[in-house]
Amino acid sequence: MENRVLSGMRPTGQLHLGHYHGVLKNWMELQNKYDSYFFVADWHAFTTHYSDKIDLKTNVADMVIDWLAVGINPNTSTIFVQSKVPEHAELHLLLSMTTPLSWLERVPSYKDQQEKLKTKDLGTYGFLGYPLLQSADILMYKAGLVPVGEDQVAHIELTREVARRFNYVYGREADFEKKAEASISKIGKKQAKSYRSLRKAYQETGDTEALAKAQALLKEQQNITLTDRERLLGYIEGLGKIILPEPESLLTKASKMPGLDGQKMSKSYGNTISLRDSEEQVEAKIRRMPTDPARIKLTDAGDPNKCPVWQLHEVYSDEQTCDWVKDGCTHAKMGCVECKQPVINSIQVELLPIQEGIAKYQSDPKLISQIIHEGSEKARSVAQETMTEVREAMGIIY
Ligand code: TRP
Ligand code: SF4
Repeated sequence: MENRVLSGMRPTGQLHLGHYHGVLKNWMELQNKYDSYFFVADWHAFTTHYSDKIDLKTNVADMVIDWLAVGINPNTSTIFVQSKVPEHAELHLLLSMTTPLSWLERVPSYKDQQEKLKTKDLGTYGFLGYPLLQSADILMYKAGLVPVGEDQVAHIELTREVARRFNYVYGREADFEKKAEASISKIGKKQAKSYRSLRKAYQETGDTEALAKAQALLKEQQNITLTDRERLLGYIEGLGKIILPEPESLLTKASKMPGLDGQKMSKSYGNTISLRDSEEQVEAKIRRMPTDPARIKLTDAGDPNKCPVWQLHEVYSDEQTCDWVKDGCTHAKMGCVECKQPVINSIQVELLPIQEGIAKYQSDPKLISQIIHEGSEKARSVAQETMTEVREAMGIIY
């Protein structure tokens, strides 16, 4: 499904401006262009937080509320919760059978996170397997595109390998060639002829344009079954049936959202502004921000490039305000308190409608349950179809 997008988020704490600028604004654009699936990855939370008593009930509802409040539209996107679609666990288990340990051990986040989160014992089976759980999340919906940040690209790469291997091992039916030939006869003479010549071109010369054309040709066939289509897709490349198509990652531009200390905004650095912070909290947090250390007194000139407040001006302020900052700072014409004020205002203004949305949805918990329920049911029906195919391919049909 080239036009299906899927992405997930772990419910490990409050959403902040980094999530908003780095992820959610991107989802908002995608939901207007693609068949979008967004889910709360609650099982994923246990892969790193298995012994922390995080309040999942609250976090899951709050996460969905925040998504809705910023503008994720439940009428066009499918919003669901991973654990409400237990098929994810089944697919994870079945994929684990064909996935070599070494593939998981060499995923960069495996060692990185173990280094970073030294206080936790991440030598668990679940933590090693979490990128495979993510693969199951993606392959379940046959998502063509997965919006991710740089740090997750390796997981999509793994997903592609996992899918390829699964298709290779279980997609080759007995008599595959014969069956594929029978499927070709169902697409009409003229189409069959072009399919054959494109397939030949691809197999003989590796012509990727021919591959794309043959794939497009199959996409247009309305009258063939899913099985025929999968068979013919695989047959172009000389593979078996493509039961689980390989996704592409859709790299999200690295979020420019700086935190209160100039590093990237992230919960683990403790430098966030939450989407739910009150006006007073926003003001207090910005007031406490460090500035150019060379500016001790008002009469000391500063350099915006050495100041984390300036990075926020770059996100929030227009050109005129930025010029005012540069001039006032480098010529020691204004104090840092004054300089911070426009940033405080802009963030407060940005959060205002979001927080109104949050309040509205918080006052209607039934609506939230209903949105989660309906989205999860819809996701589940897709998941059940995929699992039927997977079980059939593996011969789990008794
Ligand atoms: N692993 C992702 C993260 O930590 C969350 C996630 C789980 C995800 N399953 C996914 C993202 C599937 C994209 C697709 O941010
Ligand atoms: Fe930073 Fe503004 Fe102070 Fe300059 S005037 S050091 S940019 S807060």
